[in-house]
Amino acid sequence: PAAADEASPLAGLRYGAAVRDVPLAVEPEFRAAIARHCRQIVGEGGLKWYDIRPTREQFVFDAPDKHMAFATANGMTLRGHTLVWYGAMPDWTKAIASASDAERLLVGHIETVMGRYRGRIKSWDVINEAIPDDPTSRSDIRPSIWQQRLGEAHFALALRTAARVDPEAQLVINEYDIEFVGDRYRRRREALLRLIRDLKLRNVPLHGVGLQGHLRGDLAIDREGVAAFTAECRAMGLAVLVTELDVIDDKLPGPPEVRDILVAAKAYEFLDAVRAGSPIDSILTWGITDRHTWVPTYFKRTDGLPNRPLPFDAAYRVKPLARVIAHVLRDR
Ligand code: G3I
Repeated sequence: PAAADEASPLAGLRYGAAVRDVPLAVEPEFRAAIARHCRQIVGEGGLKWYDIRPTREQFVFDAPDKHMAFATANGMTLRGHTLVWYGAMPDWTKAIASASDAERLLVGHIETVMGRYRGRIKSWDVINEAIPDDPTSRSDIRPSIWQQRLGEAHFALALRTAARVDPEAQLVINEYDIEFVGDRYRRRREALLRLIRDLKLRNVPLHGVGLQGHLRGDLAIDREGVAAFTAECRAMGLAVLVTELDVIDDKLPGPPEVRDILVAAKAYEFLDAVRAGSPIDSILTWGITDRHTWVPTYFKRTDGLPNRPLPFDAAYRVKPLARVIAHVLRDR
């Protein structure tokens, strides 16, 4: 299609996207789009515990090795996602029974996984989604096997281990649902800030905060709240990254061409609020094309039309969202 041949609005900017293994392997258009528009990639999966550690003894690096090879071959960098997360855990980890076993496993995992890509994966989501959906207090932490066995100390343990394994790597705490208007989202920002402040006060190595940015088309952005949040992160010396941007459009009205504008406008509202408090280190979207996105798994539209959450459409044509991201990255 003609539109897909115009110069990339994103090439050369600090933009990247999450890659999925099947299209990366079998769809030349997917590979071409990633190579053309992105300066960095991240695996939608591949480095998660259940991908790497099917059993306690095994480490399976096939997917991340492929991602690394693809990135290197195309002059891009690979981000690491993720080391400490309650989700995507293999069943065998439920049997971790003691604090000492948990500590040994967590430290060993970070040593082996980060160690393999030392100097090559330059930015890691060391901690992912530490805050509960609906925190009841500022010190509320989401349950996980690490939290159960080691308490909150597991965050510092992971970050200190990560810094020891790769002293050059950017260590990031990554979180979702901090950007909307409403009590629940304000409480989530406060709980995340409390955790970050606590880590920084104790001199735990932490270099960035990742805002996933799974935006809801139907929820308003809390501009003041987001800007105050990113300003405080900046004041603590943290870089602010947008790590998983997309716009969930199941509740957005209108034909596709109208929805695409609403999606882009929502992303602009968010990105403009983020940069009101801090420069934006980089922006990654969670996928690149509407053809391959996690969104319909949970937020399928009821009118039978496909979701359109990403910067390129199913035929890899540029959408308004791509232009918004390019605009924000150009004058960050
Ligand atoms: O690998 C199996 C495959 O063998 C099987 O045929 C297929 C059938 O369902 O499932 C495949 O595994 C799926 C995997 O994605 C690979 O596609 C899992 O069921 C599915 O749960 C998994 O979902 C991923 C999810 O994280 C959980 O790991 C999504 O693709 C991925 O987009 C999503 O990403 C998360 C971020 O890590 C954290 N932030 C939110 C974001 C969106 O939920």
